[in-house]
Formats: sequence, C-alpha cells, structure tokens
Amino acid sequence: MERTFLMVKPDGVQRNLMGKIIARFEEKGFQLVGAKLMHISEDLAEQHYAEHKGKPFFTQLVDFITSGPVFAMVWQGEEVIAKSRIMMGKTDPLEALPGTIRGDFGVVKHKNIIHGSDGKESAQREISLFFDEEELVEYHKLL
Ligand code: CMP
Repeated sequence: MERTFLMVKPDGVQRNLMGKIIARFEEKGFQLVGAKLMHISEDLAEQHYAEHKGKPFFTQLVDFITSGPVFAMVWQGEEVIAKSRIMMGKTDPLEALPGTIRGDFGVVKHKNIIHGSDGKESAQREISLFFDEEELVEYHKLL
C-alpha cells in the first residue's frame, strides 16, 4: 500500500487546523499509520528541505518550519501521494483552488499550512527522516 509523508506546518498547528486537515484525509478514505506533534530541529529542517538549499527563500523556510510545533503524519492508501497533493492544492495559496487545503486556509506562499511528499522517492526519504519503522502501525481487517 502506498504511503506518503504529510505535515501540518507551524501556522496550521497554531491556527488549530489539525483536526480539520485529518478529517479531510480520513473522509477521503486514507488511513493514518503514524503521527506526532513535534518541534523540528534546524538540522532536521535542513535535511528535509535539502533540495531547496541555495534558493533565496531557504533561510526563511528553515526559520519558519522550526518556529513552532508541527504535526508530522504518515498516511496510506491507493495513489495517496498524488491524491493528497491534489487535496492540498498549489504551493501558493493565491493559486490554490477553493476546496483544497491551501485554497481554503492558506494565506501566503511561505506559510502554506501543509507539506506533502511530491513523489515515491521523496515520500520514502521523508518518512524515514521523521519516523522510525516501529512508530508506524499496521492495520488488520476487522470485518
Ligand atoms: P512545500 O512544498 O511544503 O516545501 C517547500 C516550501 O517552500 C513550499 O512548501 C513553500 O512554503 C516554500 N516556497 C516555495 N517557493 C517559495 C518562494 N518563492 N518564496 C517563499 N517560500 C517558498
């Protein structure tokens, strides 16, 4: 089953949007297999955003993601990587459509509420960066 890494950023946590965001993914039919509220260290932030190193907004990016608690999650489901990106909406809340998380709740590009892996490789990399295997659960069929 495909898995992805999703994270409610400090702005989403402080605006109490965690419950609404979790509900959207639950209602879509995905399963939450790991979650934790945590502070990101500068070192972890730099590893997570390694692909943006050298870009003009890198320092702002690291400063923001380490500015307060984040809610890190692993979700699973069919095509969860691509589908969750559609549910999040475009990076810039100005371009994100209503009905998407960023379109409904986002204000500016560098404070855009939620992060989601953009492909299979980054999903694997980000899941292992934030979670140990034993922190993730397996579901067994109940019915
Ligand atoms: P995300 O896709 O989660 O990870 C990279 C983040 O960089 C992205 O969300 C935006 O929040 C931020 N970002 C991307 N482009 C810019 C930009 N031009 N200026 C400021 N922040 C940006």
